[in-house]
Amino acid sequence: MKHNTLFCFASIVLIIGIQASEISLEDIKQEYVRPSSIPENPDNPLTDASIELGRKLFFEPRISASGLMSCASCHNPSLNWEDGLPTGVGHGHQKLSRSTPTILNAAWNKANFWDGRAETLEEQALGPIAAPKEMNMPLADMLEVLNTIPGYKKLFEEAYPGEGISEETVAKAIANFERTIVSGEAPFDRWIAGSEDAISEEAKRGFALFNTKANCSKCHSGWNFSDSSFHDIGLKTNDKGRGGFLGFDSMNHLFKTPTLRNVAERAPYMHNGSEATLEDTIDLYNKGGRVKRDTLSKDIVPLNLDEQEVEDLIAFLKILSSDDSEMPLPRLPSNFLTQK
Ligand code: HEC
Ligand code: HEC
Repeated sequence: MKHNTLFCFASIVLIIGIQASEISLEDIKQEYVRPSSIPENPDNPLTDASIELGRKLFFEPRISASGLMSCASCHNPSLNWEDGLPTGVGHGHQKLSRSTPTILNAAWNKANFWDGRAETLEEQALGPIAAPKEMNMPLADMLEVLNTIPGYKKLFEEAYPGEGISEETVAKAIANFERTIVSGEAPFDRWIAGSEDAISEEAKRGFALFNTKANCSKCHSGWNFSDSSFHDIGLKTNDKGRGGFLGFDSMNHLFKTPTLRNVAERAPYMHNGSEATLEDTIDLYNKGGRVKRDTLSKDIVPLNLDEQEVEDLIAFLKILSSDDSEMPLPRLPSNFLTQK
C-alpha cells in the first residue's frame, strides 16, 4: 500500500515534469500573434470622418495658448509618437515631471498615463489641452478657437452629425485618431507568422530568455508587450506613481508597464527618463533593480545573465521595431474663408 502511494506520487511528479518541459517555444510564440482588428469604444465607433477630424485636432497648434504646441509636439510621429527627451517640455518651455509615453497601440491601453489615472482615451484627451504646463488653453477658449476656424464646422458635422463642436466631440475624435496609431509589422511579427529566417539566431535566443530566465514576459506580455498593470521595478524616484493617484502607500512607485514595440528607437526610457540606453535598462533588471524597498515587485530579482545573454536580449528587443517609415501630415483648415 505504502509502495503504491509512493509509486502514484512519483508518476504524478513525472507527468507534471513532462508536461512542463513540453511547453515549448512554439507554444509560447502563439501568445504573441498580432490582433486582426483594433478595439473600439462602443460609444464612439471608428469612422473615417471621426479619425480624419481627430488627426487634424492632434496636429492643431491653434488650440494651445502659444499657438505653437499640439499633441504632436510631444507625441511626435517622427520620434515614434514621443519626444526623445527624459521628461516632457510644455508651455513656456516648462519641464514636466514625467516622460512622454508613446501613443503607439494606445487603443489597447486598459488605463492611460504612467499612473493609470485616465481610463479611456476619450477621458484623457482634453487634459493636456487645458493643463497650464502643457498646451495651457482653457477648454472654453478651445471651443471658441475651433468655432472661429471656418473649416471645422463641416468636419465636425461629418464626424458627429448633429453633435456640434463640443468638448465631447473633440475628445472623441482625438481618441479615435489615436486608436489608429498601431505599430507596423516588425521582423518579430514575420517570425511569429512562420518565417524562420526573419530574425537572427541571437534574437531567437533572446526571445527564449525573455520568456524564461530573464522573466520579462511576466509583465511585458502578449503582442503589445504589456500586461496593462502597474509595478515597482526599483528605479530611483520620488514619484509615487500609482500610489500617489490611489492614495495607498503600498502602491508607491508603481508605474504602468509600457509597450516594448519600437523600443530600440525610443530612448531614453522609464517614467522619468532615468535609463539612457537598452544596455542600461538590462543592467537594471540584471541587478534586480537600482533600489530595494517594500514596494519592489517580487518579480524583480537579480537575474545572473552573462554577457552573451545580455547581448541576446538586446538583439531580441531590436527586432520589435517596425519597418513603416512615413506618415503623411494632415492639412489643417485655414484661419479665414478663402472661398465661398
Ligand atoms: C507638453 C508635452 C505633451 C503634450 C503637448 C501632450 N502630451 Fe500626452 N503625455 C505627455 C506626458 C508627459 C504624458 C505622461 C503623463 C503622466 O503619466 O502623468 C502623456 C500621456 C499621454 C497619454 C497616455 C499614454 C499612455 O500609454 O499612458 C496619451 C494617450 C496622451 N498623452 C495623449 C495626448 C493628446 C491627445 C494630446 C493633445 C491633446 C497630448 N497628449 C499632449 C506629454 C504631452
Ligand atoms: C515586474 C514587472 C516587470 C518585469 C519583470 C520587467 N519589466 Fe520592464 N518595465 C516594467 C515597468 C512597470 C516599466 C516602467 C517602469 C517605470 O517607468 O517606472 C518597465 C519598463 C521597461 C522598459 C522601458 C520602456 C519605455 O518605453 O520606457 C524596457 C526597455 C523594459 N522594461 C524591458 C524589460 C526587459 C528586457 C525585462 C526582462 C529583463 C523586463 N522589462 C522585465 C515592468 C516589468
